[in-house]
Amino acid sequence: MSNLQKRCESRLEGLKESNNLREVSSISIENHNIIINDGKEFLNLSSNNYLGLAYRKDLIKEFNKYIKENKIDDYFSSTSSRLLTGTNVICTRLEKKIADAYGKSGALLYNSGYHANTGILSALTSKTDLIIADKFVHASIIDGTKMSKAHFLRFKHLDYNHLREILLQHRDEYNNVFIVTESIFSMDGDVADIQQLVDIKQEYDAFLYVDEAHALGTRGVSGLGVCEEQVCIENVDFIVGTFGKAIASVGAFVVCDDLYKQYLINNSRSLIYTTALPPINIAWSEFIFDKLLFFNKEREYLNEISEYVRLSLNIKGVKTKGSSNIIPIIIGSNKDCIEVCDRIKEESFFVQAIKHPTVPKGSARIRLSLNADIDKKDIDRFLSLID
Ligand SMILES: Cc1ncc(COP(=O)(O)O)c(C=O)c1O
Repeated sequence: MSNLQKRCESRLEGLKESNNLREVSSISIENHNIIINDGKEFLNLSSNNYLGLAYRKDLIKEFNKYIKENKIDDYFSSTSSRLLTGTNVICTRLEKKIADAYGKSGALLYNSGYHANTGILSALTSKTDLIIADKFVHASIIDGTKMSKAHFLRFKHLDYNHLREILLQHRDEYNNVFIVTESIFSMDGDVADIQQLVDIKQEYDAFLYVDEAHALGTRGVSGLGVCEEQVCIENVDFIVGTFGKAIASVGAFVVCDDLYKQYLINNSRSLIYTTALPPINIAWSEFIFDKLLFFNKEREYLNEISEYVRLSLNIKGVKTKGSSNIIPIIIGSNKDCIEVCDRIKEESFFVQAIKHPTVPKGSARIRLSLNADIDKKDIDRFLSLID
C-alpha cells in the first residue's frame, strides 16, 4: 500500500470513528419527493429549493415554450470562458437586468456562489488590505480570503461590538478594509443587521460585502434579499446572490460599481479560467429572475410556516436558532444527531446531520430547510416526531 493510500485510509477510518464520515446518496425525484439510492421515498427537508420552484410543472412548461419560440432550446454548453466566446447575449441581458433591479452600475455572473466568493475576494484585495468576516461565514468566503493576499480577521458571530473593537484597533494599519457577512446564515438561519454594518463601514471607511445566497428570492419586497428588506442596497458595496437555491437554477452574481465589475473581468481567476455556464441554464435563471417580484405568495407562506415551526419547537422546549426558513435543531454530539436523523428518516422525512467542520464542534444539528412547497399537514406530522 502506498503512503498516500495509507494516509487516506487512516483518515477515512478516523472520520468513521468520530461519526463524521461524509457520503453521497444517489437521488431521484418523484413528484415533490426524493428517492434515495433507488429505495425509500422521502419528503425533502434538506434542499435549498426555498420557494418550491425546482419542480413547478407550470413554470417548466412555460419555460420550455419560451426557449422553443426563441430558438434557444438546444444551447447546452457555452464551450468557452466568459472572456472568449462564453458571454452569450442571454448572459449580458441578465447582467443588465440584475444591475437595474439592484440600482447598481454593474452586475457580473459567475458559475456558482463558490466561484463568486473565491474569485471576488481574492481578486479585489491586496496585501495592504484587511478582510474582517463574521465567524460563521460560508467556506467559499473563507477560501476566498485564503486565496487573497490580504490580512484576515474574524469577528464573533453577529457581534458588531467585536467588529468595532477590531476596526478601532486595526483600521489605520491597512489601505482598504472589507467587512464580509452572509445576510441569512446558512447553518444557523439567523439574519445579519445589514443596516448596522452599513453604519460601521461608513464610520470606519470600509467596504461592505454581503452574501445573500440564502436570502435571494425569499426576503425583500421584490425578493432581492435582506439588503432590500433592510432598505440598504445602496450602501452595500458588493452583494452576491446565488441561483442554486431559491431561484432553483445554477450560478451566481455580484452587483457592484461597474468599475469593480471591469476590474473583476480582468482579474478574477474563477471567472476567467473556466467555461461559462451553458446559455440554457442562464436562460432559466433569467426566466425565474424576471418573475421574482411575483413570488410574494410563496414568500409569505414560507415565512408563515417557518414561524409556526420555530414556535412549535420552542413550545416543546427544543433548542433552535435564527429567524428564517432555515431552522437548526441543535443536538450536540455527532452520534446523537445521526440517531435523531435516522429516527426521523424512518418516518419518510429527509433530514441531514450537519457536523463539524461545517458547524462548530459539539453543535451537530439537523438543518431543517423549509420550502414553500411543503404542506401544513406534513409539517404537523414532522413536528409530532420531535420531542
Ligand atoms: C452563504 C453561501 N455562499 C455561497 C455558497 C455557494 O454557492 P453555490 O452553491 O452556488 O456554489 C453557499 C452554498 O451553500 C452558501 O451557503
